[in-house]
Amino acid sequence: MNQKNSFSSKIGFVLAAAGSAVGLGNLWRFPYLAAKYGGGTFLFIYLILAVTFGFALLVTEISIGRMTGKSALHAFSTLNKKCGFIGVLGSIIPMIILPYYCVIGGWVTKYCQVYLTGQAKDAVADDFFGGFISNTGEPLIWLALFTLASTAVILMGVNKGIENISKILMPLLVVLSVVIAIFVVTRPGAMEGVIYYIKPDFTKVNATGILAAMGQIFYSMSIAMGIMITYGSYLPEDTNIESSVRHIEIFDTAIAFLAGLMIVPAVFAFAGGEEAALNKGPTLMFVILPKVFDGMAGGRILGAAFFILVLFAALTSAISLMETVVSIFVDKTGGNRKLITVLVTIGVIVAAIPSSLGFGVWSHINLGGMSILDMCDFFSNSVLMPIVAFATCVFVGYVMKPKAVIDEVCRSTPKFKSEKLYVVLIKYVAPVFILLILISSVLDAMGIIKL
Ligand code: PHE
Repeated sequence: MNQKNSFSSKIGFVLAAAGSAVGLGNLWRFPYLAAKYGGGTFLFIYLILAVTFGFALLVTEISIGRMTGKSALHAFSTLNKKCGFIGVLGSIIPMIILPYYCVIGGWVTKYCQVYLTGQAKDAVADDFFGGFISNTGEPLIWLALFTLASTAVILMGVNKGIENISKILMPLLVVLSVVIAIFVVTRPGAMEGVIYYIKPDFTKVNATGILAAMGQIFYSMSIAMGIMITYGSYLPEDTNIESSVRHIEIFDTAIAFLAGLMIVPAVFAFAGGEEAALNKGPTLMFVILPKVFDGMAGGRILGAAFFILVLFAALTSAISLMETVVSIFVDKTGGNRKLITVLVTIGVIVAAIPSSLGFGVWSHINLGGMSILDMCDFFSNSVLMPIVAFATCVFVGYVMKPKAVIDEVCRSTPKFKSEKLYVVLIKYVAPVFILLILISSVLDAMGIIKL
């Protein structure tokens, strides 16, 4: 990703962006948020936000990247000297996400080993996962392994290879997820879960849930942190931005939906659907899926295949995150790329330690029930990202003016189909809404108001 114009075609761009977008956010994070925030209610809010906010911000970021030809850190300051801070703020986000992403990546790696070495039965036990993550040493080893795997790819510069493997493995992941989802949905008791997952209950809508859905859009589509700006800077002039964005959105949302269909109804079929199980949070996937595989014919092999594919999806995303962090430091210091990659790796592993220990020896450190990992996740996705998104909207809506983005989109196509919607969203709806939700949720977290 270092040469300019490295995307030779629209499909190459869509796939690369989708490779960054599809990862643990879809498979691990979306299902547990959906389970926790009311199932269908969350899904409904998510879909509305994806086609409005997600769309507007993706178009904006890709256009800014293409018009400036720069990465986020410099794109905003190129457009306006005073607004460079938006790029700086956005650049901090991948640095917060990457360490805890590697903690989860480590858990997935461990599960690959569990399934490959025939311990699938053990993983079914209720306390298997809890026992594993509350250890001090073992999760740290898996975390380091996962991080080093990402480092190795970046050092070897095999990004092209990754793109090619993705073309085979990503569809495989989809096929396997469909098989698992069908199996889950046809279990006794699962229908209740399917209904919970797809039927919205509007009495359950609240600001925290909306904020969580918004944070998930940013996280899952890799927006509000500069990654799509960088990708946009590699995009050829004749590529249609609007339709590329629609494709990225559909792909990303479809995979998240499928992951939810695999996990949420399973909570009902295999764990009775009680509150406590639905509220499991970050650990949900690891607790529920082993039970699902245990009930399936050939479950051990399917389980192994599944976790290997998840590992792959997680690695492609971790690589794009690490690449971003490395580029920021290379840009800033002009230092040696390889050396910086090694230093970033060490930094990531060290910074990830608290998130990992937060499930064991440091579990007493928590904020309103949030573990250290949850806190990093909340701070980056529900606080920093909305701030960056708000600043981006104000910048585009009032400083640079939406016309600049519209002109950029229209360079490759005669018509920006959703132009009116885009302008209304970026100038009025998005900034006001983001601000309201952000303030109310932070006040809620501080205990000043009760939502
Ligand atoms: N979008 C990725 C996911 O869904 C996570 C990610 C965030 C990747 C930011 C790169 C940058 O897992």
